[in-house]
Amino acid sequence: MFNVFKSQRIVQIGGNMTNKTIAEQRGYAVKSTVEAKQVASNYLAEFELLKNISFGLPEIDDRYHIWRVPLKSKMEEASTVGEIVINANTSEIDFGRSTVIDLIEKRLLGRKDEYFDKRRKKKEYKISNLRNTIGLGDCIDLMAEMPAESVDLIFTSPPYFNARPQYSEYHEYEEYLSFMRRVIRESGRVLHEGRFMVINVAPILIRRTSRNESSKRIAVPFDLHRIFIEEGFEFVDDLIWVKPEGAGWATGRGRRFFADRNPLQYKAVPVTEYVLVYRKKSELLIDWFIRNHPDQDKVSSSKIGDGYEVTNIWKIHPQTRSKHPAAFPAELATKVISYYSFKGDVVLDPFGGSGTTALMANSLDRRFITFEISEEYMKIIKDSISNIHNLGSNINWINTDRPKPTGLFNGEMND
Ligand SMILES: C[S@@+](CC[C@H](N)C(=O)[O-])C[C@H]1O[C@@H](n2cnc3c(N)ncnc32)[C@H](O)[C@@H]1O
Repeated sequence: MFNVFKSQRIVQIGGNMTNKTIAEQRGYAVKSTVEAKQVASNYLAEFELLKNISFGLPEIDDRYHIWRVPLKSKMEEASTVGEIVINANTSEIDFGRSTVIDLIEKRLLGRKDEYFDKRRKKKEYKISNLRNTIGLGDCIDLMAEMPAESVDLIFTSPPYFNARPQYSEYHEYEEYLSFMRRVIRESGRVLHEGRFMVINVAPILIRRTSRNESSKRIAVPFDLHRIFIEEGFEFVDDLIWVKPEGAGWATGRGRRFFADRNPLQYKAVPVTEYVLVYRKKSELLIDWFIRNHPDQDKVSSSKIGDGYEVTNIWKIHPQTRSKHPAAFPAELATKVISYYSFKGDVVLDPFGGSGTTALMANSLDRRFITFEISEEYMKIIKDSISNIHNLGSNINWINTDRPKPTGLFNGEMND
């Protein structure tokens, strides 16, 4: 557990009340809001900024062992001009996290809006000119062919690490992670700044191979999280996809406890997966995309009606009609695509599987780009596509032939 406190509070830890402040419990060098302000003011004095600045209430954030000291303009009390971040352990300024002095000065001089507007004005809303595409091959190679910033949303569910030996070629977990890093890096290149990458992942279970071993769970989502941050994404949300209770029994987890009921043997039956939402770093606010979209009719017609998922717990039945062993349900793809893209946008799924993302993007009036490495699964994609009236002929097929129309008159009849 970590604590972010507006002030020094008496806190409860492990059920015992203690009258020590968080800073005292952690043994920080900077122990109080007064001391935090003092460190910040010594620093600002070097730049002769003190006469124009007052301090807001410092906060302690013991996740990172830092104090955050808000800076306000003395001229306009309400306007925040930045913050000084102090390493609570050493009392040094954390330059990486603090607002740069140049920016504080510009804001104090009332140039804040001008400063940001100038940067934003330079940006024009870019409409991607990519058309519906389905490619057979390694997504890293195929993405490398795509122009930078040509995609508006990425939604995917990556291959599992050794979940089923026949279904994964990564024998070392680190090898899997470095493959995923390359995918995330390339995804970051093709994704437009400020837009979302949503990834469906879950910890995986490595079954024991003998009686003398125990099964292991690897927390893949948490390792991927770090990679996303290192590759220039910001964390937005952890959506929890909850399946019905029966869904987890197939994993075998929790069965032993169910039978014996011994403490320490308890294992939860997993019925959730993560749907992690990241945003490619940008100074552009979400509002910017809504206000500057050149087709405001598209923006209005993309609005989400009532009955949307209000919380981060999404109860969705995992069942799909797909022949793919790891397809995600159409409902999951529909929700993600509707919540994180506009009509007309380009939605990429680098690990297309049976093409759920592409099919749902198409049904929601978005364009799609889908890659899949396996010929077997590409066949499933083609079968589904050829059931949609005339769609097959409107797709740019890479490394694979377009599917034969199944309609009576060359695909004309098959709605
Ligand atoms: C979890 S499945 C995706 C299922 C998909 N969401 C669906 O609904 O059908 C991952 C897919 O990634 C494919 N894959 C694995 N490595 C790949 C690579 N390097 N490039 C493209 N596809 C890959 C696998 O063949 C598998 O079909």
